[in-house]
Amino acid sequence: MDFDRLPELGHVLSVDQFDRPFLDKICDVTQEIRELRDKPDGKRLLKEQFADRTAMLYFTQPSSRTYTSFAVACQELGVSIVDVRDPHTSSEVKEESLLDSIRTFSSYVDVLIMRSPVEGLARDAAAYLDATPRPRPIVNAGNAKDEHPTQALLDIYTMRRSFKDRGGVDGKTVAFVGDLARSRVVRSLAKLMYHYYDMQLLLVSPPEFRMKPDILAHLDQHRVRYEETADFNGAVRQADVVYMTRVQDEHDAADGTRSPRSFPEFHFTQEHLGILRPEAIVMHPGPRRDELDPATDDDPRSKYWRQMRNGKHLREAVIACILATLQRKRNERRR
Ligand code: NCD
Repeated sequence: MDFDRLPELGHVLSVDQFDRPFLDKICDVTQEIRELRDKPDGKRLLKEQFADRTAMLYFTQPSSRTYTSFAVACQELGVSIVDVRDPHTSSEVKEESLLDSIRTFSSYVDVLIMRSPVEGLARDAAAYLDATPRPRPIVNAGNAKDEHPTQALLDIYTMRRSFKDRGGVDGKTVAFVGDLARSRVVRSLAKLMYHYYDMQLLLVSPPEFRMKPDILAHLDQHRVRYEETADFNGAVRQADVVYMTRVQDEHDAADGTRSPRSFPEFHFTQEHLGILRPEAIVMHPGPRRDELDPATDDDPRSKYWRQMRNGKHLREAVIACILATLQRKRNERRR
């Protein structure tokens, strides 16, 4: 594995910045890092790569998988981490502006990984720091209801690996199920679908949680075939990927709605395993509620636990690309 030749990567703000060559490449890098780790001495080699670097994990919204996978990914690359998980412990309580706090962090760390309920914070932080003498790459680890670009990348990686003997992601039918209006995961992944040939999307949701017009317009503009439906069983029969999501009711207060905990007519249960195609897979970004029955966990087509583990591998690739890019820039400046 040649760290000097990792693809160029700066801010990771939105899936809009990715093209097909990058998507293919980041999946290849993820795979190479996994293979290197399994080689004798591989773990040590990885740990030596970026040992003088520090990352800030600024996570002021709840997170288990994304936070832990980013933290462990950094540690496996030798990157030290500092974090803010509760804004009450940072100077935001002294009414420092968010941008000042971010500029403060950027004085001490090389990369900022951010999850925030504030709409567009990662993007605004990136633009703000770019205009200072100490710009720093920002990784959006999920912002408000908008985007979750690294989740979309790990989902692509999971699909590519699951279908490695069936032509990868191209040509697949993906059923997105649940709160399609507010799942930033689904929004980001749906926007990547046009990079793959001959995709078909089945958008399965209760009427109040239909996919938002901006994503439908994006699919139309890029000629991705989709069908909005409430026929969950029909979608399960047809799909290569059944992608389940939870009701995102943390947004209820802001939206002025009161959502049910889940929609029983869209729960994936053991019975659905009987109608799911033998070569299909089931995905879920986590955390799950009743929409995905734990009794389906042991079916070989259930890939959500693997999907979660892939999160760490993929995020390690993302961090490695960002830090290798910084390293190259630093070397160029020295020359
Ligand atoms: C998702 C999120 O935070 O958007 N979780 C995750 O990062 N894996 C999905 C969710 O919370 O439902």
